[in-house]
Amino acid sequence: MTVAAVHLKQTDVLDAKELRSVFGAFPSGVVAVAAEVDGRLTGMAASSFTPVSLEPALVSFSVANTSSTWPMLRRSAHLGLSVLADHHDRAARQLAGPADHRFDGLRTTLRDGGAVVLDDAVAMFDCTVSQEVEAGDHTIVVLHLHAVQEPLSDVPPLVYHRSGFGRLDPHV
Ligand SMILES: Cc1cc2nc3c(=O)[nH]c(=O)nc-3n(C[C@H](O)[C@H](O)[C@H](O)COP(=O)(O)O)c2cc1C
Repeated sequence: MTVAAVHLKQTDVLDAKELRSVFGAFPSGVVAVAAEVDGRLTGMAASSFTPVSLEPALVSFSVANTSSTWPMLRRSAHLGLSVLADHHDRAARQLAGPADHRFDGLRTTLRDGGAVVLDDAVAMFDCTVSQEVEAGDHTIVVLHLHAVQEPLSDVPPLVYHRSGFGRLDPHV
């Protein structure tokens, strides 16, 4: 073992901005979490999506406790999750912007139960909420998968990294 010259900063001296920047070292995809609630398209972008379990089929994402959209979304019987494609960089920002315009120009499909998916996503999931776990200033939402569709498997996903969007190189 080498005694490395790395210096790890204690998290208690980091503010939220610095911590967010450190978390940004980890690349992720982005999903649109969406449903029709009271007749309105309702949704948000989330980069915290994580596959959780195969049997039963579970996924999760974390939502900030300050979110004004989650209290509406969680009322829907079903939620749609759409994995954004590499051409969805503007859509991702839009899905995090003013609530009335999040779906402007986006082609969507409403499923029985209220889930809404983006038609040109890389993959789509129709889910119900299985569990909500308090975790600091976020809530981890565990979702049960009921139906999946992978319509455009040759389309690369959008990659979110260090607060910006990137693309994957073709597999090497
Ligand atoms: C790329 C990207 C990823 C995001 N990921 C999350 C996330 O995982 N969890 C979350 O609570 N908000 C996330 N947001 C922010 C939400 O999309 C949304 O802006 C936030 O919930 C505030 O809106 P609201 O009050 O309508 O919920 C993300 C935004 C962007 C642009």
